[in-house]
Amino acid sequence: MARARTVFACRDCGGETPRWQGQCPHCQAWNTLTEFRVEGGRNRAAENSLAPSATVQRLADVKAESWQRIPSGLGEFDRVLGGGFVPGAVVLLGGDPGIGKSTLLLQSLAALSQRQRVLYVTGEESAEQVADRARRLQLSDAGVELLAETRLQTIQAALLSHAPQLVVIDSIQTLYSDELEAAPGSVSQVRECAAQLTRLAKAGGPVMVLVGHVTKEGTLAGPRVLEHIVDTVLYFEGDGSSSFRLIRAIKNRFGAVNELGVFGMTEFGLREVSNPSALFLSRHTQPVAGSCTTVTLEGTRPLAVEIQALLDESRLGIPRRLTVGLEQNRLALLLAVLHRHGGVSCADQDVFINAVAGVRIAEPAADLAILMALVSSLRNRPLPVGWVVFGEVGLAGEVRPVQRGVERLREAAKLGFKVALMPRANAPRQVPEGIRVMAVERVEEALQAWREEI
Ligand code: TYD
Ligand code: MG
Repeated sequence: MARARTVFACRDCGGETPRWQGQCPHCQAWNTLTEFRVEGGRNRAAENSLAPSATVQRLADVKAESWQRIPSGLGEFDRVLGGGFVPGAVVLLGGDPGIGKSTLLLQSLAALSQRQRVLYVTGEESAEQVADRARRLQLSDAGVELLAETRLQTIQAALLSHAPQLVVIDSIQTLYSDELEAAPGSVSQVRECAAQLTRLAKAGGPVMVLVGHVTKEGTLAGPRVLEHIVDTVLYFEGDGSSSFRLIRAIKNRFGAVNELGVFGMTEFGLREVSNPSALFLSRHTQPVAGSCTTVTLEGTRPLAVEIQALLDESRLGIPRRLTVGLEQNRLALLLAVLHRHGGVSCADQDVFINAVAGVRIAEPAADLAILMALVSSLRNRPLPVGWVVFGEVGLAGEVRPVQRGVERLREAAKLGFKVALMPRANAPRQVPEGIRVMAVERVEEALQAWREEI
């Protein structure tokens, strides 16, 4: 019989070690390891296993299920889920407190309740508070069932007796199981409750949506502790200063990752933004120097984003290089390429780069646009109206092709851009209507094309 053993798990990343250490060996955070017991005695490993049968089969003989997906009622939410909820799936929705997780799920449940039996388990707010929010969202006549409870065993019993098709647990950090002594929100409670609920979902139970708060510091176990248990991990993010909210899929066993759903928070809850490109472009009434629009990819979705550059004579020994939403090292590299291959020196300039509206660009396809914005600001000369620029820039000064070039071009044409400065290797034979392609192979060529246009 297995003995109970003690392991230490990190509150931030969920990584385990057999011994206590000051620093987590997985994510290098300090003082985040907490002790928790893995029960022995009963064979927990076998109990927790998800596949009920032990028959060995040939892969080819296993019938692939085509899931009957359950639409969430919000198109943008469906997009990140990969087309809706899959029966028996466990979805984790993480995000900072106050970002709008409860609002989103309440709206989704209200839409779902037209056709399905849904249950909202609230551990954070009282039933009255949830009802009050529903009233403000004008959803109070929806058929959502409500349970204000934090004890796992009571929730399990309610799920069995009510048999809903979809359950929201808001939040997993407030639940506790009688079988453990640890406090709610501790690593062991969060993991145990999530594992139990997952088992229920996998045994023909409801779709389970777990809400998890991201915690910067402190006593609650973060959602990362659960990432390996659940099927789908979504993060709800947003810039505190704007009303836009993004849902990003980090892991998805039933769809693509890095998909993005875009919402705007209004006084009547979250509204879908189905044309997010309009968001990330600041509309200038006149052409301005230092601004260049690029098309970036978020998951499979092309997104037009304005890049802004500001160069200013430096009064410091070492000029400043600052980027917002873009990688700092990439900027250093691009400045070197610009100097060596474009003959433009920024050595005595402070350089600031910003991707508008708090968007983060992780791919190199924005390189060429950053270069053009830099030169535009340095020379104090706007790019021609209606230009859109994308392409990766290599150390040899070459403009390399990017993924899904044609889709980016199509998005730009749809938004009314007139000229696309882009890699030659991406130039399609059939150019979308309304846009002209300026295909370049080198940085010098791109600068030359601009000079000729004026
Ligand atoms: P909430 O869904 O409670 O966040 P979470 O569950 O992630 O903690 O959202 C709370 C915030 O959203 C709060 O600051 C107020 C704002 N809000 C609106 O702007 N409009 C609305 O209609 C609602 C319901 C909330
Ligand atoms: Mg909430």
